[in-house]
Amino acid sequence: MILVTGGAGFIGSNFVLDWLQGCDEPVVNLDRLTYAGNLSNLAALQGDSRHHFVQGDICDQALVDRLLAEYRPRAIVHFAAESHVDRSIHGPRDFVRTNVEGTFSLLEAARGYWARLSNEEQAEFRFLHVSTDEVYGSLAAEDSPFTERNAYEPNSPYSASKAASDHLVRAWHHTYGLPVLTTNCSNNYGPYQFPEKLIPLVIANALAGKALPIYGDGQNVRDWLYVGDHCSGIREVLARGVVGETYNIGGWNEKTNIEIVETICDLLDDLAPAAEGSYRRLIAFVPDRPGHDRRYAIDARKIADELGWRPQETFESGIRKTIGWYLDNQAWVEHVQDGSYRDWLETNYRLRRSDR
Ligand code: NAD
Ligand code: DAU
Repeated sequence: MILVTGGAGFIGSNFVLDWLQGCDEPVVNLDRLTYAGNLSNLAALQGDSRHHFVQGDICDQALVDRLLAEYRPRAIVHFAAESHVDRSIHGPRDFVRTNVEGTFSLLEAARGYWARLSNEEQAEFRFLHVSTDEVYGSLAAEDSPFTERNAYEPNSPYSASKAASDHLVRAWHHTYGLPVLTTNCSNNYGPYQFPEKLIPLVIANALAGKALPIYGDGQNVRDWLYVGDHCSGIREVLARGVVGETYNIGGWNEKTNIEIVETICDLLDDLAPAAEGSYRRLIAFVPDRPGHDRRYAIDARKIADELGWRPQETFESGIRKTIGWYLDNQAWVEHVQDGSYRDWLETNYRLRRSDR
C-alpha cells in the first residue's frame, strides 16, 4: 500500500492510473478536492478495490495520523499542492497554507508513524516529495541548466512556498532521520491538465475560437516533459533513489512560449482545421506576468546516470498525443469550464466519502 496525496489533480491522477496499470499494490489517495481536484480523472478506477479515495486536507494531521495507522503504507508520494503561479500572485495565502503548512503536517504525521514501525518496515519506508524546478529561480540565456547543486532562488509566491516545503523535507531527514526523497521536475503537459496552464488553455481556447494569450514577448523558455515520463521518473526514484537525495527530472526540451503556441496551432490546423483559417490568427500578446521567470532548464543527468531513467516521449510525440487527448475529450474540458466536474463527486463517490 502507498499513500498518494493530491491524486485527483493533474499529475497525481496520471500517477495513480499508471501505478495501478503497472502493479497491484493498492493506493490510498488523500485529496482535498480543491478547484484543481477532479475525481472524474479517476473514473476508470470506479469499483476498483485497489484504489481507496479519501477526501481530506493534508493540513489535518489527525486525519493523516488515522489514515497511516489504518492503511499502514510503505511509502507516501506527496503531490498535493497549490500549483498555479498566476493564482499564487493574486492569492498567495492558500499556497503558504497547503504547500508549507500542509507539507509540515504530513511530515509530522509521517515522522510519528515511521517511529512506530519495526526496523524492517522503517528501512523500507519512503517519503517522496514531488517538487518543481522553479525553486532554482530564473536562468539567463547563457546559463547551464539547473543541476541538483544549484542554489535555491525562488521568485514567485508559488515557487517560494515549494522551496520552503523542500527545505522542511530535507530538515526532517537530517534532524529526525525520516527516509525522504525529493524530485524537482520541469513543466509537465498531457491528459487531465487543468485548462489554466499554458498548453491546455491554448488548446481549449483555439478550439473555442478565443484569443491565445501570450505573456510579454513570448520569449520565456520552459523545459517540457510529458506527464507519463514524470510519473515513470517518480516511480524510479521511489524504487531505487538514495534516501536523502534530490533528483531533477526534465525532458531536455527547451522551448519558448511562442514556439509552443505556434506548434499547437499548426497541429490543430492539421487535426481540426477551422473554417476561419489558421489558429495562429488567434495569438494575442498580453501584459506580462509580474516577476515572470525568463528561463528554466533541467540537467537530468543524475537520474539518467544513477537510476537509468529516460523520457519515452519527445516533445513532438508528446504534444501530438496530448492534442489528440484533448480533441477526444472535449467534454472533460467543458465540464471543467462550466464547473459541472464538481457534481461528478456527488453522484459517483457518495459512498466512498461517507465511509472514510
Ligand atoms: P494540480 O493543481 O493539478 O493538483 C493538485 C492536487 O492537490 C489537486 O487534486 C488538489 O485538490 C489537491 N490539493 C490541494 N490542496 C490540498 C490540500 N490542502 N490537501 C489535500 N489535497 C490538496 O497540481 P499538479 O500540476 O498535478 O502538480 C502536482 C505536484 O507536482 C505539485 O506539488 C506541484 O508543485 C508539482 N509539480 C508540478 C509541475 C507541473 O508542471 N504541473 C511540475 C513540477 C512539479
Ligand atoms: O516548471 C514547473 C512548473 O511549471 C510547475 O511547478 C507549476 O506547478 C506549473 O504550473 C508550471 O508553471 P509555469 O508558470 O511555468 O506554467 P504555466 O503553464 O502557467 O505557464 C507556462 C509559460 O507560459 C510561462 O512562461 C507563462 C506563460 N503563459 C502562461 C499562461 C497561463 C502565457 O504566456 N500565457 C498564459 O495564458
